[in-house]
Amino acid sequence: MTTASAVETLNKAVEEIKEQVIAWRRYLHQNPELSFHEENTAQFVYDTLVSFGNLEVTRPTRTSVVARLIGPAPGKVLAMRADMDALPITEENDLPYASQNPGVMHACGHDGHTAMLLGAAKLLAGMKEQIKGEVRFLFQHAEELAPGGAEEMVEAGVMDGVDLVIGSHLWASMEFGTVGICPGPMMAAPDTFYIVVKGKGGHAALPHQTIDSIAIAAQVVTNLQHIVARNTDPLDNLVVSVTKFVGGTTHNVIPGSVEILGTVRSFNPELRANMPTLMERVVKGITEAHGASYEFEYENGYRPVINDAEVTRLMEDVVVESLGAEWVEHIRPNMGGEDFSAFQQKAPGCFFYIAAGNREKGITYPHHHPRFAIEENALEVGVKMFVNAARKIVMEG
Ligand code: NI
Repeated sequence: MTTASAVETLNKAVEEIKEQVIAWRRYLHQNPELSFHEENTAQFVYDTLVSFGNLEVTRPTRTSVVARLIGPAPGKVLAMRADMDALPITEENDLPYASQNPGVMHACGHDGHTAMLLGAAKLLAGMKEQIKGEVRFLFQHAEELAPGGAEEMVEAGVMDGVDLVIGSHLWASMEFGTVGICPGPMMAAPDTFYIVVKGKGGHAALPHQTIDSIAIAAQVVTNLQHIVARNTDPLDNLVVSVTKFVGGTTHNVIPGSVEILGTVRSFNPELRANMPTLMERVVKGITEAHGASYEFEYENGYRPVINDAEVTRLMEDVVVESLGAEWVEHIRPNMGGEDFSAFQQKAPGCFFYIAAGNREKGITYPHHHPRFAIEENALEVGVKMFVNAARKIVMEG
């Protein structure tokens, strides 16, 4: 069979189960569960996978599921990953399948990721005899909450023997009709920090009798940007964002302390390793200069998503062969974080975006927004990507 006719057969099969994939996604959307609490979701995924036959289905951790499709001939082991968790957000969409779990919403598209991978598993399970090697489907819990589910799954051995790993994210800020490809660094390491500036409280009319934690903390905030602007190679990427600044109770009292929280995003491991020292130097210098003291904590988040050049080239070929050259969109990296990177520690991998925005339909809200939505036609695109990746990597050649 030529590649073109194999693609045609596969894509036709995807189109035939498209409605089923959309139905799975809507069921999951209606029944969202928070990170590390995906009990019903994992059970639903497990039961659905078992119903396909030909798969070895297991639960490597309490709320994750892995299905192995082992072909009769030897070959590569290709892992495909979908995340399954939702967010603590109250949905504001007026949809027949809106969240029925108050305060919890699939506001990042992970419902779609799960449905797409179920679709791919269903089709590929029916083609077991053609598989050379193995396709391993990783249904991951807890992408949204550090330390993340990916790390736990890796520790449970789900990546043992894997030769390549792929994963995708539905991406609402890209207009439907493309697949975003990015070799090399794609998503940043998302670290967090916590600072307390400790001054001395007192009467707002008598500032000289206080150590004004608000004025000092404000200087800490502005001077943290000095690290980005003046201490970092301009060709490196770095974000320092203060996202919480809490102090004081009323207009005539200078508070004794101010709490500052925020995030640091970077790609370069050396720069990342230096950040706690650079930041603490600023905090220490400024608080000391004004007679205050401080607490400082820095916590490493996920590793950055760094795409393997060869696997990324393969996935770009998959886009061209299965969807058409006009579907390839070469995207820039962004400073978001993703624990797909944990799987990439164990095998070369590629993470890619499936454009899922649609301005005409008003599908324009950003990820993690109470009105986040996806263009559901993107689900079919995702299934086509996964089954055609399997075709290229474990069926042809
Ligand atoms: Ni997400």
